[in-house]
Parts: sequence; structure tokens; C-alpha cells
Amino acid sequence: MKAYVFGATGTVGQPLLQELTDAGHQVLAVSRTGGEKKDGVEYVGTEPSNMQGADAVFLLSPGGLADQYSVLKPYLDQARKQKPGRVVLMTAFGVDYAPAEVPLRKLELELLDSGLNATILRPNWFMQNFNSYWIQGILADQKIYFPGGDAKAAFIDVRDIGACAARVLAGSEFNGEGLALTGPESLDHNEVATKLSAATGKEIQYVDVDPEDFKTSLKQAGLPEDYIEVLSGIAAGLKAGQAAPVTDTVQKVLGRAPISFDKYARDYAAAYQQ
Ligand SMILES: NC(=O)c1ccc[n+]([C@@H]2O[C@H](COP(=O)([O-])OP(=O)(O)OC[C@H]3O[C@@H](n4cnc5c(N)ncnc54)[C@H](OP(=O)(O)O)[C@@H]3O)[C@@H](O)[C@H]2O)c1
Repeated sequence: MKAYVFGATGTVGQPLLQELTDAGHQVLAVSRTGGEKKDGVEYVGTEPSNMQGADAVFLLSPGGLADQYSVLKPYLDQARKQKPGRVVLMTAFGVDYAPAEVPLRKLELELLDSGLNATILRPNWFMQNFNSYWIQGILADQKIYFPGGDAKAAFIDVRDIGACAARVLAGSEFNGEGLALTGPESLDHNEVATKLSAATGKEIQYVDVDPEDFKTSLKQAGLPEDYIEVLSGIAAGLKAGQAAPVTDTVQKVLGRAPISFDKYARDYAAAYQQ
């Protein structure tokens, strides 16, 4: 199989490329600048026509962008023209409950209505956010600053998302389905802090930040206003318990349990050292 992967150099794209090449597939990997050289991977620019020749297509909208519909619409149009054997779109946990005009939901509906063999992946919050988005507070103050209250979330390891995406791209199951992907357990941020402390030898604590202060810190970090609204909205959803459900979808797709937070924390312990 030759798979076209949008977002190939990113958080989900990297483990997905690893899974695809390990399984002997060819990849047309989209990147604005090129990525790490790898057997079986050809880097192509963002021009949608570079999708030509792909048997399967994987689409995600890069983080930090609020209008995901405008980002991905040209690629959806290209897929419609080309009719690859399979299109997998990654959105986010719970997007199926969003109003039709919300950009990610609009993409889902348009793809499901396209007549293409399509599957939607809806992952929960990534475990890897702690070693990327929230790492600064941990390195500087040993604190996770987040407005999550005491709500639980079934965090997922991006390696499981990559593995599920590869399996669905190469297979023939799950046509027309939306797969809600979660880790094996639901944890609140105090429990996350305890697990990260155990794995790293640091004393990491959770600080339940006021949502307005969270917005201010995002503004200071230079994030665009529209994306701050999106991120604040989904953080509020987590605080309201919307990210808590645990699904058995990873087990169903991969035939094994999803990666636990403890394993994630051990595997990424080096990322938490200054
Ligand atoms: N973080 C979470 O907890 C979470 C949970 C559920 C769902 N999601 C969803 O995950 C998606 C993000 O996935 P990800 O974290 O794997 O993506 P990512 O790492 O943020 O981005 C993937 C790649 O996209 C390219 N890119 C960045 N900005 C771009 C732009 N303006 N135009 C074109 N390409 C651009 C970059 O590659 P090059 O520099 O090589 O071009 C980047 O490596 C979002 O749609 C988000 O809603 C996130």
C-alpha cells in the first residue's frame, strides 16, 4: 500500500510513519520542509495534487489552528477526485456531539457523506501533551498548570493512535465508522502528577488554574485568539467530565490493551529532565 499522510512530521504523524514503514508500506509524507529520512518514505509538499498515486489517505489538522475545515478541505476535495481505497480522518474525542458547523464536525460530516470508504478516528487528550504543551511549567516549577479541576480524562498515548491509524488505513474494516480512542484508564491531573513524579524522581504537582488565567498564559505564549477560544472550550469540556469515558476501541483495533500512563511516563522520563 502507498499511504498519503498529512501531518507526517508531527506528534501523531511520526508514530504513524513508523507503523506504516515497519509493516512494509510506502508513504507519501506531507511536510512543508521535509522530515527525517526513512526507507519507504517520500516527502512531498502541501500541494493537494501530491496525493496522486496513494491507495489510502490519512488527514489531520495541525495543532494550533482553529479553522480546521479550511486547512483540510482542499485535501478532501482531492480525495473526492482521486477516490483512494480508503480515507482516515483524525478529529478529536466527542466531536460527534458538536454542532454541524464546528469545523472538525463539518469535515467529519462531509467525509462521511462523500461516498468514499471513510473512517474517523476521535482520540482523547494525548499523554504526550505533558512532555510538550505543558512541559514548561514542569521544567521550571515542577507544576502542571491546567484548568481541569478534579475531572478525570482517559488520556491516550499517541503511539496507540499511530498504530490504530496504520491498521485502519491498511485494512478493510470500520468503513463509515467513528472510532473513539482512549487509554486504558481515566485519571485526574493529581493522579497524573503522582505518576509523572514516580517515573521522573521529581515532585511534580498539579495546579488547578483559573480558566481566565489559563487564557492569559496562552496569550502570553503567543497563541492566536481564535485558537485560545478553541483550546479553552475543550479544556472546559474536560473539566466538565467529557473526557472521562474509557473505550475498548484500541483493544478492538489492535488486539491488545492500550498503553498505560505509567508506561508512557517511564518511556518519556528523559523528556522531563532539564
Ligand atoms: N493534543 C491533544 O490532546 C489532542 C487530542 C485529540 C485530538 N487532537 C487533534 O490532533 C491534531 C493535531 O495532531 P498533531 O499534534 O499530530 O499535529 P502537529 O504535530 O501539531 O502538526 C503536524 C504537522 O503539521 C505541519 N503543520 C504545522 N502547521 C502547519 C500549517 N499551518 N500548515 C500546514 N502544515 C502545518 C507540521 O509539519 P511540517 O512542519 O513538517 O510541515 C507538523 O509537524 C489537531 O487536529 C487536534 O485537534 C489533539
